[in-house]
Order: sequence, then C-alpha cells, then structure tokens
Amino acid sequence: MSEKPWAGRFNLPTDIFVEEFNASIYFDKRLYKFDIKGSIAHAVMLSRQGIIAESEARAIVSGLEQVLDEIEKGEFHFDIGDEDIHMAVEKRLTEIAGPVGGKLHTARSRNDQVAVDVRMYVMYEAETVKAYLINLIRVLVDKAVNNIGIVMPGFTHLQQGQPILFSHYLMAYFQMFKRDFQRINDLMIRANYCPLGAGALAGTTFPIDRNYTANTLGFYGPTENSIDSVSDRDFIIEFLSAASICMMHLSRLSEEIILFSNPDINFVTLTDDYCTGSSIMPQKKNPDIPELIRGKTGRVYGSLMTMLTIMKGLPLAYNKDMQEDKEPLFDAVDTLLASLKVFAPMIEKMKVNVDKMQQSAGKGYSTATDLADYLVRKGIPFREAHHIVGKTVAYAIDNNKNLEELSINEMQIFSKFIEKDVYNYITLDASVNSRNSYGGTSVESVMTQIKLAKSFLDDNL
Ligand code: ARG
Repeated sequence: MSEKPWAGRFNLPTDIFVEEFNASIYFDKRLYKFDIKGSIAHAVMLSRQGIIAESEARAIVSGLEQVLDEIEKGEFHFDIGDEDIHMAVEKRLTEIAGPVGGKLHTARSRNDQVAVDVRMYVMYEAETVKAYLINLIRVLVDKAVNNIGIVMPGFTHLQQGQPILFSHYLMAYFQMFKRDFQRINDLMIRANYCPLGAGALAGTTFPIDRNYTANTLGFYGPTENSIDSVSDRDFIIEFLSAASICMMHLSRLSEEIILFSNPDINFVTLTDDYCTGSSIMPQKKNPDIPELIRGKTGRVYGSLMTMLTIMKGLPLAYNKDMQEDKEPLFDAVDTLLASLKVFAPMIEKMKVNVDKMQQSAGKGYSTATDLADYLVRKGIPFREAHHIVGKTVAYAIDNNKNLEELSINEMQIFSKFIEKDVYNYITLDASVNSRNSYGGTSVESVMTQIKLAKSFLDDNL
C-alpha cells in the first residue's frame, strides 16, 4: 500500500476494504487523456504566471507525456492504492520527474481537476454522437429518396388510418434525429466552460490565468463561479437526457421494425447479417438488433435517473457522491454509440416489401377520409359527410367489400352526391397525393421535406 498524498493528518493507514470501496481508478482511468491534457495546460499556465519556473514546467510536461505514452502502450500499472486517475498520474509523474512533480498540484484541487476532465470527456463524446447521428440521418434521407412513391398504411391506435408514403414515414424519424442532434449541440454550448482554477471550491491565492487554461483546452472561457464550478454536474444530466431521448427514438423505430418484420405483416425484411437464429426452431430469423436497442434504452434511462438522484440532495460544493457520476455516464455513452453505430447500416440494408405495404395500406377503409372530403367539396358539412361515410363503411364491412369495390348505386344509397368521379379520389395514390398541404404526405410535399433535410445535412457535415 502506497502512502497517500493526503496522509499527513492521518494516524492509521486506510482499511483495505475502505481503500477498495473508495477507489474509482477501475473506471475513471478512462479519463487519462483528458486528465493529462488538463495537467499539461495547468503546468504551462503556472510557469507563464511565474508561479513555477519554466524549467520545472518543462520537466512536468515531459513527465506527463511519458505517463501518457506508458498508458497508451499498456505499460502503466494501475493500482487501487492510488485511488483515482488523478493521483495515479501524479504519482507516476513524481517517480519520473522527481519532487518537482509535486508542484503540479499548486493552485489546483482534485475537485476542479475531475470537473474539467469530465467536461472534456462529455464534449469529446458529444462530438462523436453528433457524427454518428449525422450518418444515421444521411441513411434515412437516402432511403426516403430511393423509395419515393411507395405507399404504406399510416396508423393511429395501430389501426390503418390513412395511406402515407413510406418516405414520409422515414422523414418523420429524420425530424426526431435532427432534434436529437440539435439537443446535443445545445448542451455543448452550455457545457463548454472550463472549471479548472476553481480550486477546492473557493478559488486560489495564486495569480492564475484561467482564460489561458480555458482557451488552451478548447473551451469558450472559464466558468464564472468557483463553487458552482466544482459542484455542477448539469452538463452530464443534460447529456444523459439528450441520450435518453435519442434512445427513445431509436427504440420506437426498433419497435416498428420488429413489428413490420413479423411474417404476417412483412413490410420490411432485415438482411441476414443483422439477424440471428434460434437454437431450437430452425426456421427462425429474429430481429435481435432492434430488440436489443429497445432493451438498452432502459439502461440509458437508468443512467439519467441515477445521476438525477445522486445530485438531488447534495449540499454545495464537492461531495464524494459525485464520484458515482462516471459509470452511468460511461455506460450511457457506450450504449448510445453502439446503438447508433449498428442501427444505420441495419436500416440502410433493410429490404422494403412494396407489395405488402401497398396491400395493407388499402385495408381498413383507409381512404374513408378522402370520401368524406369528396362530399365536403360538394358542399356537405364535414360532420354530415363523416356520418354518411361511416354508414357507407358499415355497409361495405357487412358486404365484405373494400370502399372502391362498392358500385356507384351502392354508394348512392348513402348520398346522391356521390358520382362516378368518386373513384378518382379514393385510390391510394390519389389519397396520398391529394394531401399536398405543407408537411403532408404527397410526393411533392415529401420532396420538400427531403430538400430541407439535405440542406440540414450540408450545413452539418
Ligand atoms: N475520484 C474523485 C471523483 O471522481 C475525484 C475528486 C476527489 N476529490 C476529493 N476531494 N475527494 O469525484
């Protein structure tokens, strides 16, 4: 067991179990790059401000670079006695550089150190999430372009409601993922301030330059209040909340893919390389990937709940509770990125079963609204038209016919305003293309949506 940097006022060594219980090195070693980067910026700042000598800063920086190199090569020995990544790096630095390594922690505390490390980590991973989201969005838009004109049922209550274009449906998901992207962007704007230099909580007696470290580390500037700087984990909660919403969207689409690839429905077919089989039923091809994504959504929600709960009763400023922020954050990042990564090619390769979609779109009297609208254009108030069409549908059901299979005489039982031209309005294509309102399902309207989506992609590539 190594002597702790804080051991001065202690008379007993740490209990072995306490040491293990207290340590975060198992998981926070993942922050090593950000920790070392932050330390290098801090050391350079200290010498620029005349707080340590230039030669001392040089020794510290080259020692830190060696530590980085050792970690990347897998040669670094992580020891739970070092408690966390911050102390592990500092201890090794001091072994390499000698006592001057001990000067690195001047005008700094682990409280502002961990805060800046996690911010850098969140900013970095948020960029990755954005790149993955853009890729998924590109896949969705391409698929919408390539399948324009294909009609599918639009559901409400999971019952056929009105026919829609498959591309329109895909573009609905584009909107969700676009908002997810924007949410990540938004939280990055708020997170991009540097807490380094807040010290333990109250600032420092040394003449530090917080603007220098903030700018060197890529932040807009320093955070404004030292107490808040070491106490705030809002940026993690915002990230987890954006991640949860994004997973919710992935999960909804997953649910539909699972449903749509049921053999009875069969609107889409996932390619074999994105499915798995059953160990007993030889005929099975299961949509495990969307099922897993649906399931993993629960994990990410769990991380959000964990963080909200950790923070809710914490007095200012730093409390050790906050060490518990890392595992849920890391797990959510891994889960979201893996889900986005597997999802895009799965959708790209997914086969669209045009005939099945089309057949289903015509079921359930899905053009009944078009018949009602037809009557409205003949001057009948919508409520009355709704009633007439309701009767017509009930008659068609009794006679086991679709709406367009009814003869003109049959339809005229319900309204004398129905004439031969009605058949031009109650086909699937007519139904779809007459919904030409802004945001509607007609080919023209969906093409407008696609055009806007393409310019979103151009702006964000
Ligand atoms: N491992 C700690 C964490 O993750 C680092 C900060 C510790 N600060 C302290 N005063 N004990 O939160």
